[in-house]
This record gives sequence, structure tokens and C-alpha cells, in this order.
Amino acid sequence: MTMKQDVLACLQQARDYLSGEQIAQALDISRAAVWKWIDALRREGYEIESRSGRGYRLLSTPDVMTQAAVLAQLGRHPWAGQVTVLPTVDSTNTALKRMAADGAPDGTILIADEQTGGRGRLGRQFDSPPGMGLYLSVLLRPQGQAAAATHATLRAGLAVADAVEAVTGLQVGIKWPNDLVYGTQKLCGILSEMGVEAESGRMDWLIVGIGVNCNQLAGDFPPELRSMAASLRQCCGQPVLRARLAAELIRQLAALEDDLADPARYLPRYVARCITLHREVQLARAGTLIHAVATGIAPDGGLEVRLDDGSAAVFGSGEVSIRGMYGYCE
Ligand code: BTN
Repeated sequence: MTMKQDVLACLQQARDYLSGEQIAQALDISRAAVWKWIDALRREGYEIESRSGRGYRLLSTPDVMTQAAVLAQLGRHPWAGQVTVLPTVDSTNTALKRMAADGAPDGTILIADEQTGGRGRLGRQFDSPPGMGLYLSVLLRPQGQAAAATHATLRAGLAVADAVEAVTGLQVGIKWPNDLVYGTQKLCGILSEMGVEAESGRMDWLIVGIGVNCNQLAGDFPPELRSMAASLRQCCGQPVLRARLAAELIRQLAALEDDLADPARYLPRYVARCITLHREVQLARAGTLIHAVATGIAPDGGLEVRLDDGSAAVFGSGEVSIRGMYGYCE
């Protein structure tokens, strides 16, 4: 953490006023340096009261997506040293892929306030304006075979759902495999990409890219998405501090890899959140639409369905796209 981040963390953790002397002592810096960092934080939009004889008190935190803001929320987490927050990037997934090729370790996190070339599934664009969404990618280097990646995508959806609930209190659902929904509207999309070692079939790297609609109002979405997308702000009625959500999401994601080795640890919680189950679905396979009822999640993370002729089948997320017979359609 930089000194500015340390000063911010001190203010955020304090229950009452902190004198310049207390902050200076805690961080082993001069009082003049404390003042300099407080001034810098104020210029970023932090409202910091100063009262003679008592010291400084943080009154409000702006919704800024900066390294200082995320690290102040994350505290001393083992992944804190591996978090990079950029003002703008083409795509956090693409940039993280470059970092993976340069040997970045497991748990490397890249966040951007804006993406100029945000990517969605099936080659689509992902609209990523500044100041509104959370655009976060995490690099994992799991030990398992490539097939375990399906569990990573499902588990990532659960991580986002848990983080959103912790920060906003919203009970969000997951549309299989990992779209976050509230009612019938989509709050978040996830794009997972991986590199596999050809000879062994083991995963070399896995990047899970998460885009959460945080503070958009209806007019902020492109016209074609307005009826199917929603933001957390619209759903919970108040703006969301994206840095707080980012920190909570990082904590949830750090638990993901253990669950890949033993999916039974997370599947019951996933099933409880999955809105696709026991509903009619249309599955598109090889250009043909198939009508079915979703009956469960298979041990490999696939979607178990009962087809119209009564037979059972399992569909994988890479192979099909579910066309919603409820809510938004892809
Ligand atoms: C989808 O719903 O189609 C998936 C959208 C995934 C968007 C996220 S935002 C962070 C990461 N970087 C990208 O370019 N895409 C993912």
C-alpha cells in the first residue's frame, strides 16, 4: 500500500476523530506528511472533517475506482499486493492475458474504471463506461484439468452473488451458468477464458472477467439493453461504492480455488441461487432450438434437463446458449 492508501485506511478504520499525531505515529511519518496525504484525498473527493483539538474524521467516501480506494477497503488481504486498478484499459481480460503470458501469479487482479474494448460472451461487446460499472478480471492458475473450468465459471457467479448481497443486501439469483439476475433483469456478466497445456490437458491459466452494472440509471444503458439490464443502484435504490464491492468480490474469489477441488462444497449454495432450475428452457445446439425443463446441476457443472420426449440430457455452457423463456434473452 502507498502512504496515501495507509492514511485512508487509518481514517476508514477509526471510529472517532484521529489526531494528526496519532496518524503520524501509526504510520511513522511526519504530521506535515499526514496533512499532505489528507489534502490529496480531499482532492479525490473524500470528505474529511478537521476539528481543532480533535483531529480528522472521514465523513464520506466518493465512488472512485482507484487503487487507493480498493486497497483501503481490502485491508491486509493476501491478494492485496496483486491488485492493479487502472483508469482505463482496452479490456481487463485482454490485458490480464498479456500479464499471464509474462508470468503473473495466481490471484492477480486487474480492475479498470473504464474499458474501451470490453468483451462479452460469443464475441459481443460489453459496454463499459467510466464511473458506473465494476470491471474486474482475476487470473487463476488452478491445478486441475481443463474440465474443471466449468466449476470455476459457476463458482465465480456465486462469488459475485455473495459479494453483491454482502454489500447491498439484495437477494440476487444466478441464471445458469453465471449471469447475475434480479427479478428478470441482468446485473452482471462473466467472461471466462483459459489456456490449456496441450500435452497434459491441464489448465495453465484461467481468467474470469466480471462486469457488474453498479450505478447506471436507465438512460445510461444502450437502448437495446434497457429492457433487460439493470444496475445495483436501480435495484437497491442507492448508489453503490464500487471499491467496496470490488474488495468484497476479491475476498469471495479467493475462496474459489479450494472449491474447484471439491465442488460439493459450493454446489448446494449455487443450486439455492440458481433461478434456471425447474423452469422451461430453450437450448440452442448446433443451430437447433430444443425445448426442455431444467432439472438440476450435473456433477460436472452442466445443466441437467428433461427433454420433451421424457429423456434426460446434460448440456454444457460452452456448447449451448440458453434462450430465456423468462427474463432477458441472449
Ligand atoms: C457477458 O455477459 O457476455 C459477459 C460480460 C463480461 C464482461 C467483463 S467486464 C471485465 C472483463 N473484461 C472484459 O472485456 N470482459 C469481462
